[in-house]
Amino acid sequence: MKLWGGRFTKATDKSVEEFNASIQFDCRMYAEDICGSIAHAAMLVKQQVISPEDGKRIIQGLTSIYQQIEEGKFTFSVALEDIHMNIEQRLTETIGEAGKRLHTGRSRNDQVALDTHLYVRREIAAIAALLLQLQTALVTAAEQYTDIIMPGYTHLQRAQPVLFSHHLMAYFSMFARDFKHLEYTWELADTMPLGAGALAGTTYPLDVEMVARTLRFGKVYENSMDAVSDRDYIIAFLEFAAQVMMHLSRLSEEFILWSSAEFHFIELDDAHCTGSSIMPQKKNPDICELVRGKTGRFYGHLVALLTVMKGLPLAYDKDMQEDKEGLFDAIDNLKFALAIYKEMISHMTVHKEHMRKALANDFSNATDMADYLVKKGVPFREAHAIVGKAVRYCLDHQCVLTQLSLAEFTALSPHFENDILTALQIETCVAQRQTYNGTSPQSVRRQCRQGRQYLQQA
Ligand code: ARG
Repeated sequence: MKLWGGRFTKATDKSVEEFNASIQFDCRMYAEDICGSIAHAAMLVKQQVISPEDGKRIIQGLTSIYQQIEEGKFTFSVALEDIHMNIEQRLTETIGEAGKRLHTGRSRNDQVALDTHLYVRREIAAIAALLLQLQTALVTAAEQYTDIIMPGYTHLQRAQPVLFSHHLMAYFSMFARDFKHLEYTWELADTMPLGAGALAGTTYPLDVEMVARTLRFGKVYENSMDAVSDRDYIIAFLEFAAQVMMHLSRLSEEFILWSSAEFHFIELDDAHCTGSSIMPQKKNPDICELVRGKTGRFYGHLVALLTVMKGLPLAYDKDMQEDKEGLFDAIDNLKFALAIYKEMISHMTVHKEHMRKALANDFSNATDMADYLVKKGVPFREAHAIVGKAVRYCLDHQCVLTQLSLAEFTALSPHFENDILTALQIETCVAQRQTYNGTSPQSVRRQCRQGRQYLQQA
């Protein structure tokens, strides 16, 4: 007999039962479901809606069900549809009559909302910690590698030299914005939906503030229809997750490139790579590729839920059961990705000499040559054209700018003097970029310092 079977005269079709059920995936919210029910039961007692004896039996029964699930002794049933009815049914089997009073003043609509809010909130806390650990790994690496200069790219063509630490700290900044996004998501998830009942509120004198306090919610939903039909907090989480993955995917792409023989800028630790079943020499950056690849499904989960929600009339619709699988998948994969990336960054080898060597025979210092002329009074556009000619000349003579003689320099412009060679040194190019957010060592040290302060305050 179903918990809702009263008005039915026929058993549910087996395939309908299976298609309708969510227990296969919502069973992971058992702790939230039980905590929520205990808080609800305690409040029902205080409000004299149920007797203290029944309250006690309910709480003891739920506690023992929690233990059974933890110990793997609880069999979930598809016929009982979801986590809420699986637990409620077992409660009544265990404690009898009193179990049937738990659902007073509550609906599965506000119950599932409560469970999911609790679940998202808990996972936000775990993910926040992982994100901060990843940021710690980034700033630690940035502090460790301050003397490494690498080519900076635009269009994946060598552009201007940058400190390797500067490049790493760019990601630190992205993740700091992601963290803000996560804080916003927390604010949404930190709202308590009980009291809404099915949609219109309930006729019992529920003390929702008490439930909110017990479960440490910052606030209570102001409107019962909103409370049972809101999935904004899940969408916000998926937006956050999609964006973190987008950032991680860009870093993945760079790690893949940098660890190729063509770049040879870094080597990832053996522990974070895999081999080939046919080519004995291979060491593949699979994790980076998977993170890049999995980013697609994060976008998918976000768009899927936005699409599920877009045409739904208020209040609850069963379509909303579709909110969970994408959410859970996003949480699982994001936690993996963040944790592995932290390790990968902490244990990679950086080929300092190779990065520096790459810069010895390219034109990353061409802008600095133009800037040199500007400082001698040449208008920038003219300086740009002169250096363009110099680059062309070097390409034709198979050399780089620092290999030109003073005679060759002065043939290009009478403004060149002996000090041009110092100006073209890669170290000078980096040191000169002293704008607030530039790649000069002072700026990068400031970024690291502020990064540390941020981590301490987080
Ligand atoms: N399993 C359902 C879900 O995840 C729980 C709420 C069901 N409510 C209902 N009225 N059928 O959305």
